[in-house]
Amino acid sequence: MSATRRYKDAWEGFWSEASSEPGAVFWDAEPALTAGLHLALFEPHMAAADLPLVDLGCGNGTQTRFLADRFRHVVGADLSAGAIEHARYSDPAGQAEYRQLDATDKAEIEQLHAELGDTNVYMRGVLHQCEPEGRHPLAQSVATLLGERGRACVVEPSQAAGTLLMGLARGDAGPPPKMEPVLRHGIAPVEVPDAEVSEIFRAAGLEILVSGELPLTTTDYTPDGSRIELPSRWLVLGRAG
Ligand SMILES: C[S@@+](CC[C@H](N)C(=O)[O-])C[C@H]1O[C@@H](n2cnc3c(N)ncnc32)[C@H](O)[C@@H]1O
Repeated sequence: MSATRRYKDAWEGFWSEASSEPGAVFWDAEPALTAGLHLALFEPHMAAADLPLVDLGCGNGTQTRFLADRFRHVVGADLSAGAIEHARYSDPAGQAEYRQLDATDKAEIEQLHAELGDTNVYMRGVLHQCEPEGRHPLAQSVATLLGERGRACVVEPSQAAGTLLMGLARGDAGPPPKMEPVLRHGIAPVEVPDAEVSEIFRAAGLEILVSGELPLTTTDYTPDGSRIELPSRWLVLGRAG
């Protein structure tokens, strides 16, 4: 399968309006609070840290650049041409390589795997808002990229994050300000039930090597001035033995 025109347009519309200012986008928190925390959990489980690393659904590349400081060959891949433009603009030294691709498109992922061989994968916040028909193909793509030797670190907001956001949206102040463009472009947040996340990856032939909970720090604040943190789950995956 591949993503529908409506879904692609939603992301393209979002990224074409997004500012390149650090912290302008709801989920775009500093890497020290994001990929930095995940990497400490992920690295001990990498079977081969010298493989290329793909940041799948890299958005504007904030986390990709952090990863590119630590790994030899990092590729940021995103569905949206606008996201890739932001990512390249913010990486003038070209620390990472960026590609526009649809991670639910089998042929595009097979092509990437043919070029890079087995890779490690970082994927944050992509499964939970992708189209329901895209969930299994997306997990299958992660499995294809990993091949025999790669490992993936997947981070997704939990169901409780949806409840929290819904509660904030219904409050007097309405949705957090930086959520407004996300909702306006028709991007549906936190749609995958917790129990399904593991099942989706297992169905793609992947094994959960280790997992845990962590707050997903956003760049937005509640009316009382506290930074919004969403409950999230991280998983390290490898091919089932
Ligand atoms: C919530 S953002 C997270 C961005 C980034 N991973 C981060 O942690 O900052 C989700 C990203 O996934 C991208 N995306 C959604 N569906 C995709 C697909 N089928 N293939 C590739 N990228 C996709 C969107 O364009 C968007 O940039």
